[in-house]
Amino acid sequence: MVGAVQFGVLAACVVLFVPMILAGWHLSRNKMLFFSGALFITLAVGVHLTPYFPSITNLLSSLSSTVVLDNRSSCLSFLHEIIWDVKVEPINKGLDEMPNFNTSDYEKSWSWAKSIPVNACGFQKLGRSDACDLLNGSWIVVAGDSQARLVVVSLLNLVLDPVEMESVSGDLFKRHSDYNTVIDEIGVKLDFIWAPYVTNLTDFLVELKHNRHYPDVLVMGSGLWHMLHVTDSSDYGVSLGSVKQSLLSFIPVSSEYDTVESVSGSFPVRSPHMFWLGMPMLINSMLNTEEKREKMNFVIQDSYDQKLHESKLLRQSGGPMVLLDVKSLSRNCGSRCTMDGMHYDPAVYEAAIHVMLNALLIESQQRL
Ligand SMILES: *[C@@H]1O[C@H](CO)[C@@H](O)[C@H](O)[C@H]1NC(C)=O
Ligand SMILES: *[C@@H]1O[C@H](CO)[C@@H](O)[C@H](O)[C@H]1NC(C)=O
Ligand SMILES: *[C@@H]1O[C@H](CO)[C@@H](O)[C@H](O)[C@H]1NC(C)=O
Ligand SMILES: *[C@@H]1O[C@H](CO)[C@@H](O)[C@H](O)[C@H]1NC(C)=O
Repeated sequence: MVGAVQFGVLAACVVLFVPMILAGWHLSRNKMLFFSGALFITLAVGVHLTPYFPSITNLLSSLSSTVVLDNRSSCLSFLHEIIWDVKVEPINKGLDEMPNFNTSDYEKSWSWAKSIPVNACGFQKLGRSDACDLLNGSWIVVAGDSQARLVVVSLLNLVLDPVEMESVSGDLFKRHSDYNTVIDEIGVKLDFIWAPYVTNLTDFLVELKHNRHYPDVLVMGSGLWHMLHVTDSSDYGVSLGSVKQSLLSFIPVSSEYDTVESVSGSFPVRSPHMFWLGMPMLINSMLNTEEKREKMNFVIQDSYDQKLHESKLLRQSGGPMVLLDVKSLSRNCGSRCTMDGMHYDPAVYEAAIHVMLNALLIESQQRL
């Protein structure tokens, strides 16, 4: 059994430091008190129950050897360790009553895996008020194709109440158009930029640079249209390269920060938090046209993924953008989560939003 003293010390550290870290996440003082209170109670209950559950004791001893919340940047790599619980049987219906497959008939839920590093990172699904606290006062831009629009829907679903959501969804679902809104209560400005091709993303970046006004959070991703209508991964790779050029031209690199500022004489630019919205897993047999089934096959998908990797846009290859890995989320949710093999259930994009918010928590803590 772990020494009670060691465990006591660990518990005290958690109660002391976790709220301090939360304070770094810009949560209000009330929330901090709430979190530390809740943690204290959880730990107190835990301490009294621990002796009765040897397995908890073992888990705790392995946990205390990994230093909890030690290096949170490594937590970014565990963000997609998400497991799904998708019901095999449709809800409230016998299979014979349901000739048509409908993804909304299957109950789905997701959570982060219970592995030790994931537990140590302490990811959380943020509720409405925490998400609003986190995003308060920011300008968020989401640019891309229909996947990006579904991400915007999920984000609005999280921060708006259902009545407000109803009133915006009409505008939001107009296909092939931009959408701009300001949510006054939390001072969030949210822009969706319809950018089906990567070249549209580059055009948008050029415009941002020209206006010298940058969003706080920038989410971008395109590829499906190119795959279907151009079907040339080398050309895709070239256009990703120009996205990277545009991004690097306005991200202040910290070591060059002073130089850039003094040379241009401009205001210091705080670089946006940047996310690349990856393509979903395409389920070939479910795609709804012959052309899609033919052109969007495994080989082509693979070559497009390869180009994304080679472009070095993503953090994992040394680039500036954190990947929102819709491929992994959609693959794990599975074929019951899509009706056309391409657009997935809202739960998948909701998970992507929570991955993004947790990445923002990690990054905003590091920037203090
Ligand atoms: C945190 O971990 C990352 C990758 O695991 C490593 O590159 C970085 O140097 C670490 N930072 C600190 C402060 O230990
Ligand atoms: C799937 O079910 C939902 C809710 O039950 C319904 O609104 C939607 O129209 C259905 N879709 C199809 C294609 O049947
Ligand atoms: C957002 O921040 C402003 C000031 O920074 C504060 O007055 C306001 O109450 C905050 N709103 C929410 C919903 O947290
Ligand atoms: C996006 O780019 C394509 C190809 O370069 C172009 O034809 C189209 O007009 C652009 N769309 C928007 C919304 O800018």
